[in-house]
Order: sequence, then structure tokens, then C-alpha cells
Amino acid sequence: MPRIYIETYGCQMNVSDSELMLGVLGREGYVRTDDPVDADVMLVNTCAVRDHAEQRVLGRLGELKRYKRPGDVLGVVGCMAQRLGPTLLERVPQVDLVIGPDGYRGLPELIARARDGERAADVAFKSWEHYEDVPPVRSSQVSAFVTVQRGCDYRCTFCVVPMTRGPERSRKLADVVGEVTRLAEQGTTEVTLLGQTVNSYHDGQHDFAALLRAVGAVEGIQRLRFTSPYPTDFTDAVLVAMAETPAVCEHAHLPVQSGSSRTLKRMLRRYDRERYLQVVAALRQAVPGIALSTDIIVGFPGETEADFQETLSLVEAVGFDDAYTFKYSVREGTPAVRIKDHVSEETKTERIGRLIAVVRRVAKQKNIRLVGTTHEVLVEGPAKRGDLLQARTRTNKIALVEGPAEWIGTYRRVRFTGTTGSTFTAWPVESTPNVLPLRVADRGAGGEAWQPPT
Ligand code: 5AD
Repeated sequence: MPRIYIETYGCQMNVSDSELMLGVLGREGYVRTDDPVDADVMLVNTCAVRDHAEQRVLGRLGELKRYKRPGDVLGVVGCMAQRLGPTLLERVPQVDLVIGPDGYRGLPELIARARDGERAADVAFKSWEHYEDVPPVRSSQVSAFVTVQRGCDYRCTFCVVPMTRGPERSRKLADVVGEVTRLAEQGTTEVTLLGQTVNSYHDGQHDFAALLRAVGAVEGIQRLRFTSPYPTDFTDAVLVAMAETPAVCEHAHLPVQSGSSRTLKRMLRRYDRERYLQVVAALRQAVPGIALSTDIIVGFPGETEADFQETLSLVEAVGFDDAYTFKYSVREGTPAVRIKDHVSEETKTERIGRLIAVVRRVAKQKNIRLVGTTHEVLVEGPAKRGDLLQARTRTNKIALVEGPAEWIGTYRRVRFTGTTGSTFTAWPVESTPNVLPLRVADRGAGGEAWQPPT
């Protein structure tokens, strides 16, 4: 049986797309390998959102060349493949095929052609493509990504995604519910709905509110997440659906990009600072205790120190639980290329440093207050280090807990015993050992009252 190795960069949708590709190739008899040495076909599923992401892939392609035996195929797929198309074949001689996000159905054919010595690229957009008939091969049974929308119709001036993923389209609600039902039947209890602006989902008949209600009603689904929403697409109907659907988790990733209304306007975001803060307030009212995370870009063209100060003050004003921070990266073909007044690399580095410090401080203050509180966690798998288990709260906090492997995939109640500032250590509540929490002294107000272990 031929063996396929896939390496995935970038967003969750890429993780989900890699699972689709394994599905497409699985039907052809391919089996997955985690070691490129064994592989007959190696695929790199790429991201194009920043230059740094592309440079990493180029470096990695150089390394993967070493594992390529005669007859083996090396392919570049995903957003960078879409962006560069056939030029990637010219630029990187060891690459045999290049396929964009709408072309994965053609993988078996292009692989066969590559074996015959033909190097080919498929970067055509197919606005109907949802891979509806392809059963994804998922790596985890505990929690599943379910793509509900592909492409993007927004035109944020910094962003390359509309050029790499094509026009926005939504899957039919019934198809999504069917997939989630099959997942639940196999024992999956948590799903994350994916889309570039997921809450603008509309299948012609149903909006995102209807989708949340329908997926939340699938028997066996205990946790429902979605990413990434667009701030101004939280309609009242969506907020009410979130509030009324018990499975919807108390967490939203709400990319703000900047705290300065002037910058937001030039980014062509469809809200200003005030409007974003209103959305935050509405979410907090609809879903008490909701945790909020965000994406922030520093050094967008024309960003002044005063603009940047507004971003810092927004992080404080919202009190984000977490934030992903990026230095602005010029993307060829995006509208922002034409904006003059570029911010120097040095200033970007300096600003991102200050931003990260504020983000960490704000998150740490919140997290310290949670030490001593108890939470329901879903145990996801072994932790990356040590022999602990990694578990997650509904609010998306990660806790490391000691327990047997049988706990993987189950829900437990735990008490947070300490925090690094971002993640937690925890004890199962049912069997709290007779030791004091690690950082009682740090515990502030808020959350459930802390009780000494008995
Ligand atoms: N430069 C830097 N960051 C970017 N992002 C998107 N495009 C760019 C760019 N050109 C960030 C945004 C987005 C996240 C996925 O990547 O913050 O939300």
C-alpha cells in the first residue's frame, strides 16, 4: 500500500483540509505515515498569510528533498500553493505538484502524472467545492474540526486569504448536521465549526444561528465551538442561539486586528473601536463568563505610536484571555500594498514586544484569579511533556492533570492548583490529594470559592 506523509502549517482549516486529503487518498488505498522516510508521497499543506510562514515552508522543502527516493512525489498544497501556482514548480525543482485548496479531489490524478514525470499545478477556484462526498480521516476522536464554510468575501486590506481560498460559500446545514451526527455516533463529543468568517455562514436558507442550534441539538454533542467569527456578524439571532444552546462553549476567538479606529478603517474592517467594544459587551451579556481571545497586527502601514497605544489600551479594556500577535507582513496583490508609510521592521519588533508584555500581564491577572476554582474539562490526550494529561475547559483554558490514559475522551471535574500565567495545573476533584495548591498566595477574587482540599 502506498504511504502518504502530510505536514500541516497555518490555521485550523488547514488541519481540517489535511484530514480531507487523507480521506481523498485513503479511498485510493493510501495509508498514513508520520515519518517522511517511509513515505511514497509527501505533501506540505501551506499557509500564505505572512511571508514568514512561506519562508518556513521553503526551508522545509529543502529538507524534505533528502527523503525523496526515485519515484517518490513531493507536493505543495494549500494557500501558498494557490498563491504561487506554477511559479513554485520553477522555483523549487524538487516539487512535483502544486494544488490549491479547491483542487484536492485531483490529488490521485496529479500524483499519478507526477509518477510519469509530469510536473503539474492546479490552482483553479471551484466555488461549488465542499468535498461533500469525501470522508475526512481525523487524527483525534475526542474533538473534531468541521468545515462549514470555505473562502472569504471580506476584503481586509492586509489579507491574502480571499486570493488563496476564493469566494465564500457555505455547506448545506443538513450536510453539516449529518457529518456531526456521524461523528457523535463514533463517540466524538466536541466539534469546532470552521470558516474564515464563520458567523456569516448562510446556506441560502439557514443562518449561523440556525446552524448553532441544529448542531447543538445533535445527540451526544456536549461542546460546540466555532472559529473564526467576524466581530460584526454576531447578529442578535446568533447571540440568542449561543445563549440558548447549552453545548455552545463559553469562549469566542474574536480577531480585532487593531484598537485604533483610524487603522481599522484603513484595514477595511467593518467596525471601529467602539463597535468592537459593543460586540464584546453583547457577547458577555449573552454568555456570562465567556472567555475572549483575539488576533492583533502591529505595524500596519501608517500605524503611529498613538494608534499603537490604542491597541494596548484595547487589550486592557477588553481583558483578553489570550491574543495571537503578528507583525504586519506585506502580501503581494493585497490592497494594503498600495498604502505608503510603511512602519520599519525595528518599530514593528519593538511594538510587538510591548504588546506581548501587556497581553501576558492581562491574561496572567485573569488566570491567577482562577487558581482554586473548579471546572469541567475534556481530557484531550497526553500532555506534550511529562506523563500528565492535557485537558481543556469550556472557556478554552488548558489544564494539565495527572490521571490514567483511560480518561482521554472523558469529562472530569478538576480544581486548578496553579498557573504559568497561561496554562494551568489541576487536580481531579473526586480524588484531591492532601496537598496544598501550588500557588494559593496568588489567588485573587472571583470564580467559585476555593475550598481547602480534604
Ligand atoms: N500580516 C500580518 N498578519 C496577518 N494576518 C492576516 N494577514 C496578515 C498580514 N498580512 C493575521 C490576522 C489574522 C490572522 C489569521 O493572521 O491577525 O486574523
